[in-house]
Amino acid sequence: MTRENKIRKCNTFFFSKYPIYIGYFLRSKMRGGSALASEKTKCIDSGSEYCPCYLAETNDCLVCTHLQGKGFCDCSWSGVCIYQDFFWCGNKKKNYRTESEGLIIDKKQIGEKVCIFKIKISKTLARQLKHPGSYILIRDPEKPLIFNVPMSIMSADEINGEIEVAVEVIGAKTKSLIDCSEKLLIKGPFWNGILGLKEIKNLQNNNVLVIARGIALAPTLLLIKYLLKNNNMITFLVDSGKIGEVFIMDRLKELDINLLQINLRSEHGLDRIKSLLRSKKFKFLFSGGADKLHKILLNELSSFENDIKFASTNNSHICCGEGICGSCESKISDGTSVKMCKCQLNARESLGKVEK
Ligand SMILES: Cc1cc2nc3c(=O)[nH]c(=O)nc-3n(C[C@H](O)[C@H](O)[C@H](O)COP(=O)(O)OP(=O)(O)OC[C@H]3O[C@@H](n4cnc5c(N)ncnc54)[C@H](O)[C@@H]3O)c2cc1C
Ligand code: FES
Repeated sequence: MTRENKIRKCNTFFFSKYPIYIGYFLRSKMRGGSALASEKTKCIDSGSEYCPCYLAETNDCLVCTHLQGKGFCDCSWSGVCIYQDFFWCGNKKKNYRTESEGLIIDKKQIGEKVCIFKIKISKTLARQLKHPGSYILIRDPEKPLIFNVPMSIMSADEINGEIEVAVEVIGAKTKSLIDCSEKLLIKGPFWNGILGLKEIKNLQNNNVLVIARGIALAPTLLLIKYLLKNNNMITFLVDSGKIGEVFIMDRLKELDINLLQINLRSEHGLDRIKSLLRSKKFKFLFSGGADKLHKILLNELSSFENDIKFASTNNSHICCGEGICGSCESKISDGTSVKMCKCQLNARESLGKVEK
């Protein structure tokens, strides 16, 4: 019997006799050298209906030390115990995300490179996708799995069971989507499209500065609606980028926000940002765009004393979204490898990552 199986068997015995988290009592005595890096413990799926997942079955859970085969309890997760859930599920993962067909009910071309799809899906899935950072894996039903591509949710209507995604055509996967006119295959929900969700969820009655460029305007719309719901006052700097058009403009005009259109690649645009940040008015900054934009904004923040919280879009290479394929894996500043499709990192930490 392997060491992991012995540990599992032992814990199974304790759980069946005493439905309490026995590892808790051993915690102080058995804490291992490098227990768990704080970043690793923040799995976006923990506590959701998709937890425990495949990683629990293989002793690779990002949060639970028992489900890493360590034989003691040392997680900082304050929700329902993942190990206990796993045990009650018969030492098996819970639900896994399945693919479903979405009917294309509208398709709107924006310039040469972008297409907005309105897709009919189940009301349940639409409800699960209305949180900031939600995305799906999407592909042409005629194409194999390798064509799955992550796409952010631009809007989700749970009453009618509809979502909108904006696709920028770049390479093989997105080119194949653009030809679809009837159906699309959709896998979801996934939620890690934004890093720094904790900061966003804690924001209420604050002045926030949101900056987004190009196709990243799509996920920013859901974020803005969420921030408004929590009584935040929003200044939104939009840059159409290479797309050449602020394709969410008609939606933005309906919202109570301070909207400014700028060119983030110009001196004038950057000066504008600098003076806004230094005005000490804002408690939070969101960056929607490429990592280059995130880094420019973070550099600016670090150049003066401030306590501005930061969140950004997650630009990792996501393929499975379930922590299995490893394509999104990245090393952060302390040298730890993290799976960016699952880990909810502090956005600053993720940008300080070292190369793979
Ligand atoms: C969470 C998330 C949400 C996204 N939301 C949107 C969106 O709403 N609209 C949109 O147009 N694009 C979005 N993207 C980016 C989109 O997934 C990539 O542009 C797409 O995968 C490119 O694939 P391709 O085959 O067309 O081009 P490729 O030629 O394969 O790649 C073109 C560029 O896209 C990057 N890329 C390739 N594969 C991936 C991947 N699996 N994940 C991330 N980046 C990749 C490559 O680094 C390269 O720079 C999102 C990406 C992520 C991670
Ligand atoms: S996308 Fe597959 S492990 Fe993260």
